[in-house]
Amino acid sequence: MAIPIPRDPKIDFADVPRHWMGNNPVATAVSNGINLLFPHGERFFVRSVHHYVKDIKDPELRAQVKAFFKQEGHHSSAHDDFNEILRGQGFEIDTFLERYAKISLWLEGKLGPKLNLAGTAAAEHFTAIMAEGGFASGMFDLMDPTMQKLLAWHAAEEIEHKAVAFDVLQEVDDSYALRVAGLAYATTLLASFWVWSMISLLRQEKLGLRGIRKYMKRMGVKKSERNVNNGPVVSRVFLRGIRQYIRRDFHPNDNANEHLARTWFEAHGMPFTEAA
Ligand SMILES: [Fe+2]
Ligand SMILES: [Fe+2]
Repeated sequence: MAIPIPRDPKIDFADVPRHWMGNNPVATAVSNGINLLFPHGERFFVRSVHHYVKDIKDPELRAQVKAFFKQEGHHSSAHDDFNEILRGQGFEIDTFLERYAKISLWLEGKLGPKLNLAGTAAAEHFTAIMAEGGFASGMFDLMDPTMQKLLAWHAAEEIEHKAVAFDVLQEVDDSYALRVAGLAYATTLLASFWVWSMISLLRQEKLGLRGIRKYMKRMGVKKSERNVNNGPVVSRVFLRGIRQYIRRDFHPNDNANEHLARTWFEAHGMPFTEAA
């Protein structure tokens, strides 16, 4: 049985500096931008899968789903704690968070359970790709150690449970059209809310266009050094993720990235569950 293992490292964020990502305010705004999306987004993932728990016949998948709920619950709480630190650092994040929750809850109600599940399965594919990129590109090494602990733990668990929502979707309804509709839903929301949150944070840094350009240059990866895990988010996460996900025979376990999670867990004295 390959059941993900919920872990709760209880991280204290008190000493996280304002520009924790490579000492770069633009890179930090990009990273904080996605961090803002996690608590509400991951509770949405749990609700979407929970709606179908009663329909899951496979006992191994049911056990995986329970572990998935616990892992996502721990991630949401940890990111809530970190959001509190952002408030303490003087960032006004609640206007964005309230609008993000309001719009996405409205859509969740309108689109219905199947599309919500399909959107969750696709969003989980994006999170697994981001997780892989975090480890494979060396991005985690640029972070303040506390944030590295949060994001590497989160990323490793995302890799560990990367197939759970997808497998539930396959059991509930394996229609290709539904899978692709879920991909469109997840891509649109993730990209637009991420850009919005990032801009709202960046505006508060008061860098001006020249300052933003200066820090963007510092975080750029040379064309000659780019690969599937190293480069702009648009190609590394979105284009790659979409290209893979629209393959009719795609399965999240096709991406062999478990070794990245295993290496991190083992280095931190935690066991790892191999994908079945
Ligand atoms: Fe998560
Ligand atoms: Fe996840």
